[in-house]
Amino acid sequence: MSLAHRLLETRRLRGKGEVLTGHHNANYVLRVGLLLALVIGVVPFTRFKYRVPLKTVEVVPRIWPREAEVLEVVCRYLREVPRCRAVLGELGDRSLHRYRRGEALSDRNPEGEIDEKLMREFAAFFVRTARVPVDELPPPPEDWPADGDSDGFLHWLVDFTEQRVHQPNRDRFGDLFDAVGIPPDAMTAFKERYHGLTSRPFKLLHTDVHRANVVVRRGRIAVIDWELAIYGDPLHDLATHVVRMGYGRAERERMVELWARAMAEADCGELTAGLREDIGTYLDFEYAQSVFPDVMRAALDLPADADEGHFRAAGGRVSRAVTRARRPLRLVAVPDMEQIVEALRKWHSLSAPAAAS
Ligand SMILES: Nc1ncnc2c1ncn2[C@@H]1O[C@H](COP(=O)(O)OP(=O)(O)O)[C@@H](O)[C@H]1O
Ligand SMILES: [Mg+2]
Repeated sequence: MSLAHRLLETRRLRGKGEVLTGHHNANYVLRVGLLLALVIGVVPFTRFKYRVPLKTVEVVPRIWPREAEVLEVVCRYLREVPRCRAVLGELGDRSLHRYRRGEALSDRNPEGEIDEKLMREFAAFFVRTARVPVDELPPPPEDWPADGDSDGFLHWLVDFTEQRVHQPNRDRFGDLFDAVGIPPDAMTAFKERYHGLTSRPFKLLHTDVHRANVVVRRGRIAVIDWELAIYGDPLHDLATHVVRMGYGRAERERMVELWARAMAEADCGELTAGLREDIGTYLDFEYAQSVFPDVMRAALDLPADADEGHFRAAGGRVSRAVTRARRPLRLVAVPDMEQIVEALRKWHSLSAPAAAS
């Protein structure tokens, strides 16, 4: 273990300081002491985020396993994004990032409308991201669709959901999926229905621009958490943003409009080709794919001694996910809340001990 890693682990195990846990990592916020600062070459006593991955179910594609490699390129062009200062651990899966002062948007404005100024900030962010030269990015996987093949890109995402999320989890969650109205062929049938997208140039995408991944300071934003960045059709980034922010109808339309205008003004007008026809497809895909993680996470979050309140809360999450996926996945047998709660109880009684291991 390197000296820097050892010093960080000692700090982590001492358990002082804030721990921020997301879906994929535990993040330890700490000020680096003199020795550590010297070892990694940073200013002493500044704040950093030590990022340690959690064991979780795989639900979204990661085409670049090293976030640090992506950040190196991103930070050259988006100066506000906190840099990665060290990659640690035998597997290189731990890292130390600058901690940006400011407030997470999820704390400042956890739900509901955001102001127009912030929406313009997001539009400008998407422009900056689209302008990152793609030839500087790490190479995509071998089977990656060619630049501009929007259909191929969408279908790659659909195949990932089917082959890497849905199918491998059928053993453990199949009965639950069936019981909440998601038939085994839901995703393959989706793929057959959705094609004919306009060709748009592929760009760097963040794919997870939601409130918890945005740090606001003096009205300016910095988007953090680049682990899920990919290379592809920019409409996918806009769609995941719109859905995960929880925008209402009017805000959604405004955001799409601001995005399109900002792209056009930045001479990136070719990214808006077919926008009006195709944005719905990516929104539908987002609702469709998220039903799998949403159902699984609701079930997995049930404690071993779950009571009525836990089951109701989990039922609410499942019901919301299934309702949103209903049209895109053409779900014909969506059960009511009572039936969903019953399905969760059954899953819990049969599978929860395995979930805890
Ligand atoms: N540099 C930072 N400045 C302010 N808040 C941060 C910073 N880094 C992380 N956070 C907070 O910690 C949470 C988890 O960090 P994040 O990098 O998104 O990890 P995860 O991969 O677990 O989602 C964020 O949602 C945000 O609220
Ligand atoms: Mg995050």
